[in-house]
Amino acid sequence: MNLELLTKQVANLCRASGSFLKNELHNLKQSDVQEKGINDFVTYVDKTSEKRIVADLSKILPEAGFIAEENQSYQRKEKYNWIIDPLDGTTNFIHGVPLYSISIALMQNNEIVSGVVYEVNLKECFYAWQGSKAFLNSHEINVSKAKSLKDGLFATGFPYHDYSRLDDYMEIFIHLMKNSHGVRRLGTAAVDLAYVACGRYEGFYEYGLHPWDVAAGELIVRQAGGAVSDFTGNNNHVFGKEIIATNKSIFGEFLELTKKHFKK
Ligand code: IPD
Repeated sequence: MNLELLTKQVANLCRASGSFLKNELHNLKQSDVQEKGINDFVTYVDKTSEKRIVADLSKILPEAGFIAEENQSYQRKEKYNWIIDPLDGTTNFIHGVPLYSISIALMQNNEIVSGVVYEVNLKECFYAWQGSKAFLNSHEINVSKAKSLKDGLFATGFPYHDYSRLDDYMEIFIHLMKNSHGVRRLGTAAVDLAYVACGRYEGFYEYGLHPWDVAAGELIVRQAGGAVSDFTGNNNHVFGKEIIATNKSIFGEFLELTKKHFKK
């Protein structure tokens, strides 16, 4: 399989889907917003975007199955699966905050082999495939060179429905507030990861995430020279609902923090 070609086809598809999202924002009414769970929103825009993406991806790789955020009926297949978030940052979107993205990854068996994150309003397309460099709009990107936490800017997502680990989460938040350049919360985990990949942030952490929030971004961070894991340093960050992603110099220091504070 030509992963470079496939990734670039997906990047083009994301650009087209991004225009769709942006145009639909003008038509969105409050009554179009449904609550799937506590503070977990969806609109016809997410659903339509997903249907269009699934149709296009089916043409690119007919043998692949789907794991998708708004999925009702797509099948997961054995070897290849697309992992899709047709609109990451739905809460931003429904409030008119211009920061939302599309995240598409291809998983071969259990490994992510292609990833694209497209931030719609700045038209920034981040992508990588297995064995490649990482790119932003065709320019190579790398994680930052900062050597320690105190020289870094960090990102996170605030827990919004699973508050069971809030105290542990806050310990790290407070540590970062006091011992780094600060903490940001953009509202789209896929973009947070992309920003780690291009060195804007030194690191990102969040729990309660889904595979479609992180699958593409985790590959882009790794191909940009960064390190990604769950809170214990293991590899279960795509399906394990917890992730840290940093540059390699800071990874050890950050992992110590999550190991110390996140007592399962
Ligand atoms: C959400 C965003 C947000 C993160 C949430 C995600 P969605 O995705 O990535 O930044 O904090 O945990 O669920 O629901 O907008 O696709």
